[in-house]
Amino acid sequence: MGYFIEFRNIVKRFDDFVALDHVSLNIPKGAFVTLLGPSGCGKTTLMRQLAGFSEPEEGDVLIEGKRMNGLPPFKRNTPLVFQEYALFPHMTVYENISYGLRLKKVPKDVVDRKVNDMLEMFNLQGLETRFPKQMSGGQQQRVAFARALIMGQEILLLDEPLSNLDAKLRVEVRSELRQIQQKLGITTIYVTHDQDEALSMSDIIAVMRRGKIEQIGSPWDIYFHPVNKFVADFVGTVNFLPATMVAAEEGGSLVSYAGQTLHVPVVLDVPAGGCISLVVRPECMHIAREGEISEHHARLDGVIDHYNFLGRVIRYWVRVGEHSFIIDDSNPDLTGARTGAVQLILDTAKLHALKDED
Ligand SMILES: Nc1ncnc2c1ncn2[C@@H]1O[C@H](COP(=O)(O)OP(=O)(O)OP(=O)(O)O)[C@@H](O)[C@H]1O
Ligand SMILES: [Mg+2]
Repeated sequence: MGYFIEFRNIVKRFDDFVALDHVSLNIPKGAFVTLLGPSGCGKTTLMRQLAGFSEPEEGDVLIEGKRMNGLPPFKRNTPLVFQEYALFPHMTVYENISYGLRLKKVPKDVVDRKVNDMLEMFNLQGLETRFPKQMSGGQQQRVAFARALIMGQEILLLDEPLSNLDAKLRVEVRSELRQIQQKLGITTIYVTHDQDEALSMSDIIAVMRRGKIEQIGSPWDIYFHPVNKFVADFVGTVNFLPATMVAAEEGGSLVSYAGQTLHVPVVLDVPAGGCISLVVRPECMHIAREGEISEHHARLDGVIDHYNFLGRVIRYWVRVGEHSFIIDDSNPDLTGARTGAVQLILDTAKLHALKDED
């Protein structure tokens, strides 16, 4: 099956430095794909290979099966929106949004209609005659999106477009943007190093590290079935527990941790006695209530070190042997937090496990 966008074995070097190291990524039409990874891992560089602002030393970039290598940006139909909105300061909202259409000498009534559609879609009605400096950051960002989308291209590239906005506005604009993307069915590549943004907006996440893609998957895959500790740790809060393999089982593995034998729903390529790590998300365990524990529970003995009360949730740091666990209690007691010795119940159905690297 042909994909809408394909990166095939891309290598990009800056002198001796390898910024992209044989990167391959297939993107179906209409998908919202996020490149997620720490600063300097190559996200922007990969995006630039598609937009045509940079050419790879090796590998191919394809759109609808056609090789794009060597084509200038304007022949690729891939508008790019950056963190800096790059609106024209001396033009009004109307003039900014309609810029591309006017350049193409599209008739005025068509331009007006399209601009109106965009103003409506991005909730900018009534701001047509404002200049960028007369608007909030969120409004300017919306104008930048509208300007990118009005040309009706099939691909939208967004490089950290929300990072200039404050936290609350970012959450608002991201859900708005996702809804518009789905409505238009526009294939979108989005760059961020914000895991919440990636999880909440994407159909597919590609987690990058040092010029390589570590994992490609749905937000659920990435969060619950990370392929290594880097991905597990980068996407969400995690505790790792050292355990040993006991035996393979139907649909999973029997592992031994702290004198208990647990079934984890993960097939591992590890011989009996081999070292593994249990991957425990905060929501995979809870502090046992009075009388809740029975002998079939997988459990740990711990002592509460400290906690953060966050309103809807209390985040506890619980010491278990030499480990410190983060546990979120989303049903806090009205009178205060728990203290002292506690037992933790593991939800083994949600446990993940990884073969230890090297
Ligand atoms: N024109 C260039 N010349 C030399 N090195 C470069 C150039 N562009 C990027 N790099 C290097 O390539 C690596 C990847 O850069 P890139 O901009 O793709 O990172 P990024 O993942 O987008 O990071 P950030 O989240 O900070 O934007 C970095 O180490 C960067 O210093
Ligand atoms: Mg970047």
